[in-house]
Amino acid sequence: MKPGLLLSLLFVVSASAATAEDLTTKMIMALDVNPGAVAFWAGGNDPAEGESAFATEARWVAAVKGAQAMQAKGRLLQSAGIARDGPWSTFAEMMVQISAEGEAAARARNAEKAFEVGGRLYDSCNGCHKTYVPRVPSN
Ligand code: HEC
Repeated sequence: MKPGLLLSLLFVVSASAATAEDLTTKMIMALDVNPGAVAFWAGGNDPAEGESAFATEARWVAAVKGAQAMQAKGRLLQSAGIARDGPWSTFAEMMVQISAEGEAAARARNAEKAFEVGGRLYDSCNGCHKTYVPRVPSN
């Protein structure tokens, strides 16, 4: 192996060690929180034209699961080693509480309520991102 390549590999390894905490949050977001939110938001949306009763039901089941995932990950985000200083845990807990309301609305198949909750859910994402990740522009 060329020395230059070895050096740059070492750099990559140490750089990711320094941002291990970010990587954890990134994985939580990418694998659970974001898909959960997308599934939940779909519950409050108008159905696609001609959507079958089966598809509507599947959408609600996914919305319930998404709301549950956000509650679980919102709690995880508040744990030692992941939580950060400042309002981090307030936003994470906001996500937990609002998702619990969202789960109830999705279980009740209440699209209007799910839509209303979905707007507030977005505020929890946006609040945390605005504070900690100005580089995530669309959230
Ligand atoms: C407690 C703080 C917090 C909350 C609440 C939060 N996020 Fe995040 N999110 C972050 C941080 C920090 C990052 C950046 C992680 C990194 O790349 O270092 C991030 C990154 C992301 C990303 C980019 C992931 C990637 O692949 O790079 C998406 C998408 C995302 N969040 C979606 C959401 C959605 C949707 C919600 C609300 C339902 C939400 N987040 C709530 C802190 C939060």
